[in-house]
Amino acid sequence: MYRLQCIILVSLCALISGYSEEDRVRDLMSRYPLIDGHNDLALQLRKLYNNQVNKINFSNMSKIATDISRLVAGHVQAQMFSVYVMCGAQEKDAVRLTLEQIDVLKRVCTQNQDFELVTSTQELRNSHMKHKIACMLSIEGGHSIDSSLPVLRMFYQLGVRSMALTHTCNTPWAESSSKRYNFYQRQNNSLTSFGRAVVEEMNRLGMIIDLSHTSWRTAQAVLKLSKAPVIFSHSSSYTLCNNDRNVPDSMLKELKKNQGLIMVNFHSNFISCKREANISLVADHFDHIKKIIGADSIGIGSDFEGAINFPKGLDDVSKYPALIQELLQRNWTEHELADILRQNFLRVFNKVEEVRDKMVTEPPSEVQISVEEVQNPCRLVLRHPDSPSSSSEQHLPSTLHILLAAAPLLSTLFLL
Ligand SMILES: *[C@@H]1O[C@H](CO)[C@@H](O)[C@H](O)[C@H]1NC(C)=O
Ligand SMILES: *[C@@H]1O[C@H](CO)[C@@H](O)[C@H](O)[C@H]1NC(C)=O
Ligand SMILES: *[C@@H]1O[C@H](CO)[C@@H](O)[C@H](O)[C@H]1NC(C)=O
Ligand SMILES: *[C@@H]1O[C@H](CO)[C@@H](O)[C@H](O)[C@H]1NC(C)=O
Ligand SMILES: [Zn+2]
Repeated sequence: MYRLQCIILVSLCALISGYSEEDRVRDLMSRYPLIDGHNDLALQLRKLYNNQVNKINFSNMSKIATDISRLVAGHVQAQMFSVYVMCGAQEKDAVRLTLEQIDVLKRVCTQNQDFELVTSTQELRNSHMKHKIACMLSIEGGHSIDSSLPVLRMFYQLGVRSMALTHTCNTPWAESSSKRYNFYQRQNNSLTSFGRAVVEEMNRLGMIIDLSHTSWRTAQAVLKLSKAPVIFSHSSSYTLCNNDRNVPDSMLKELKKNQGLIMVNFHSNFISCKREANISLVADHFDHIKKIIGADSIGIGSDFEGAINFPKGLDDVSKYPALIQELLQRNWTEHELADILRQNFLRVFNKVEEVRDKMVTEPPSEVQISVEEVQNPCRLVLRHPDSPSSSSEQHLPSTLHILLAAAPLLSTLFLL
């Protein structure tokens, strides 16, 4: 009872009873524990352990910023874990590498009692009641589906509930904010007709569309098209740091109309545009975005294990309370903080599920990308050698002709 009154009369109680600001943050975060939008733990498992995780003690991983002890200390109740494969795998073995990252995360999240894999808002809420840390799977980069809606659907079946349309490379159907790779640099690539089919299919499946890493033109096209709210899972304010990974105010306003969410990235280079930053500068991003679109469009997407430089005092998953304390000092209300910690994400994910439920009578999309758009010599063209050759066949790479010559063999596998 005394504690409850304290929540109402915080400042007075702080004076007379020693109910400190730390206590207030702890109390708030136990009631509204964090759902974080982006963590690259799986990338570290690949890099450091070659995905050999059976003998790893996930309670204490001192080499990295994420482990169970520190997730508990940081009041993290759910984490969207990134399923990331490098852009160099595009048109090579991106699908295999993606499946391997899904496998390693599923093993980690089922073999450790403290974790639980979740695929819906209901399971997310239940996992809170069970005092589990919920794992959600999120693909980081559309190259992982190799321009195939059936592959997208199978990833959904494996439990993936979100996908960033690009990473740092363009796909044949969407454009990245980065110019690092020269894949598919062509006119009108911001969202091709196949790209629109990907967005529509994600709406139909109930997969959250993630626009962190896409170009602004792609983001704009998706914001116009998507029936469900979208997220930027790990991006900050472009006005405060003009990095292409951040979101300008005009786009924030579009995002608000879409009822979507920007989950603020802690990476120092996106906070201060320098290698160093501090909690106060991170809080500035929250203040600015709140001023533009309100606290009900903001979340937290730390980017631990993916980014390299983190602000002083905010350098591992146990440190979130320090940020919440800073925002309390800046007069953010408990309601607003509960929103950015988890309520906003739950609302957006639930809306995505509602859109899926409304589209339940629509059949799976059978849109296919044309072989010309993909330009990938590794892609088989399943066609009978006796079928009349189209004019475009003259331009196919020679490997395709070899494969076509082997078609009698293929036709035993595929009814052409
Ligand atoms: C794992 O690490 C935690 C924290 O350091 C420790 O308490 C626990 O005993 C360890 N478990 C095993 C099996 O070594
Ligand atoms: C985690 O392990 C490191 C080194 O193995 C050790 O120094 C540290 O005390 C451990 N932390 C906990 C919480 O057990
Ligand atoms: C780009 O798209 C516009 C409108 O969809 C079209 O009119 C134009 O011809 C396209 N340009 C190229 C280079 O494909
Ligand atoms: C955070 O960094 C900024 C820029 O370097 C500096 O002006 C400010 O005093 C720092 N704030 C704190 C609390 O250290
Ligand atoms: Zn990223």
